[in-house]
Amino acid sequence: MIKSSSNHQNLSRQFPEVSFKTAKISSRYWFNHSAVQTLHANALTTSIPYGERFFVSCVFASLKRLKNKTLKKKAIHFARQEIRHSKEHFRLYIKAVKPFYPKLKVKNYFYQNLFALVALVVGHKIRLAMVAAMEHFTAKAGEFYLSHPEFFQGVDATITSLWQWHFLEEVEHKAVVFDIFYAIGGNYIQRIAGYFLSAFFLITGFVSYFFHMVAYDKLYQSKQFYIDAFHFFWGEIGILRKLTLPFLSYLAPHFHPNQ
Ligand SMILES: [Fe+2]
Ligand SMILES: [Fe+2]
Repeated sequence: MIKSSSNHQNLSRQFPEVSFKTAKISSRYWFNHSAVQTLHANALTTSIPYGERFFVSCVFASLKRLKNKTLKKKAIHFARQEIRHSKEHFRLYIKAVKPFYPKLKVKNYFYQNLFALVALVVGHKIRLAMVAAMEHFTAKAGEFYLSHPEFFQGVDATITSLWQWHFLEEVEHKAVVFDIFYAIGGNYIQRIAGYFLSAFFLITGFVSYFFHMVAYDKLYQSKQFYIDAFHFFWGEIGILRKLTLPFLSYLAPHFHPNQ
C-alpha cells in the first residue's frame, strides 16, 4: 500500500509490465460499499478509454512540428502509457460498470463528438493546450490520491493497484504535453483558453456519467446520498475542496508542472 507522495518513483517499479485481471465484481457499490465513491470511480473509468486515446491522437498530430528529439521520445512514451491506461480501464469498465449500468457506454457519441469538433475547430495549439490542461487535472488528482491511500482501504487489491499504477504514470508524465505545447510555439493565452475548454468538458462529461448512474439507481430519492455526496466532494473528505487550489495553480503565468 502506498504510504506517501515522496516514494512515487520507487512505487512505479512495482508495475513493470502491467495487466490487471480483476475478479468478477458482485457488489454494485464495489468502492467501500459507498454509492458516491463507486459512482465517482465508475464515471472516471467510463470516460478514460476514449478520453486518453483522444489525447494521444492530439499529441501525435503535433509531433511533425516538434524538432526536439528528447521531447519526441517522451511523447511516444506518454502515448504508450495512455494507451495502456485506456485498455486497462476498459477492462475495469467491463467488470465493474457495464454489468450494473448497461446503458452507460464508453462511447458517448454526442459528448465525445462535440469535444472532438471543438478540438478540431480551435486549431492545433489550443487543442494541445486542452490536452496539457487535462494532464494537469489528472496529475494533481493522482498526487492527491497517492498521498491519501486511506481512500482505497477496503477496495479490491487489484483495482487499487490499477488506480495507483495509473496515478503514478500520470504524475510521471505530467509535464510532457505542457512542454510540447510550448515547444511548438504555444503561448499563455492559448494555454488558458485550453484550460477553460478542458475544464468545461471534464465537468460536463463527469456530471453526465455520474448522473446517469444516479438516475438509474434512483439515488436522487435518498437523503443519505445527498449527505454522502456533500461529505465526499466538499465536506470532511472534500476531494473537490482539496483539489480546487492545485487545479487553479495552472493559471499562474509562470506555472510549470515540474515546479
Ligand atoms: Fe492516463
Ligand atoms: Fe496522462
